[in-house]
Amino acid sequence: SSLLDFKGKKVMVTMGPTQEAIDPVRFISNHSSGKMGLAIAKAFQKQGAEVFVVSGPVSLDLGSEGFHLYSVHSVDEMYKAAKSIHDQMDICVFAAAVADYSPKVIASEKIKKQGEELSILLKKNVDIALELGKSKRSNQIHVGFALETEKEELHAKAKLERKNFDLIVLNSAKEEGAGFQHDTNKVKIFHKDGKAVQSDLLPKSKIADLILDEVKNLPVWV
Ligand code: PMT
Repeated sequence: SSLLDFKGKKVMVTMGPTQEAIDPVRFISNHSSGKMGLAIAKAFQKQGAEVFVVSGPVSLDLGSEGFHLYSVHSVDEMYKAAKSIHDQMDICVFAAAVADYSPKVIASEKIKKQGEELSILLKKNVDIALELGKSKRSNQIHVGFALETEKEELHAKAKLERKNFDLIVLNSAKEEGAGFQHDTNKVKIFHKDGKAVQSDLLPKSKIADLILDEVKNLPVWV
């Protein structure tokens, strides 16, 4: 395969965490650093693609990479940005760790310290990959991630179907050196027909290359 296998292709990568405001000074978030998403964005760019990055708050330098950059905080902002460019994309990779629930009400003032217990009511958020999957064209490719802690393969395969992904990349939150924050990851990539590819523990740049290899193996290209 040539180095410029994705020349002329437009690729969107969602990455990083989301931040869901509780009040003006606090939020709910997760441990995503954006490293996995950035590695994928760089790999596609290296192979000739025009890359659109939709990123939650990360401490990586995304500004100097030559991506079309959409910096967001909340799930709703991430959805709005992704939806606005989805139609133009050939390939979408959903590497972001998106909050499933957010505070139902954002307090307008800082919540004061009060009794021994404090409840925050949460509401379900939009599922970005699921929603965009509903309008996926037959010539578009969606690659999802699954971050699991139990019944990993079962949950990953269910997400592959439910979210209309062409591929799903399973990583474990319990595997040493894999998942959040690390410079390495260990994944199993599932195709729709049940075919799966298991990786070793590798730098995220190498994991990204493996994902691109599986994208090239998809039947949509033939
Ligand atoms: O950023 P790093 O520190 O490098 O860590 C990388 C990672 C662990 C964040 C990454 O490899 C990863 O697994 N990303 C997906 C994490 C996740 O939220 O997985 P999930 O199983 O909850 O979601 C399944 C899929 O649906 C994902 O593609 C997710 O982006 C997408 N999703 C989920 C919920 C939602 N509301 N909208 C979504 O689009």
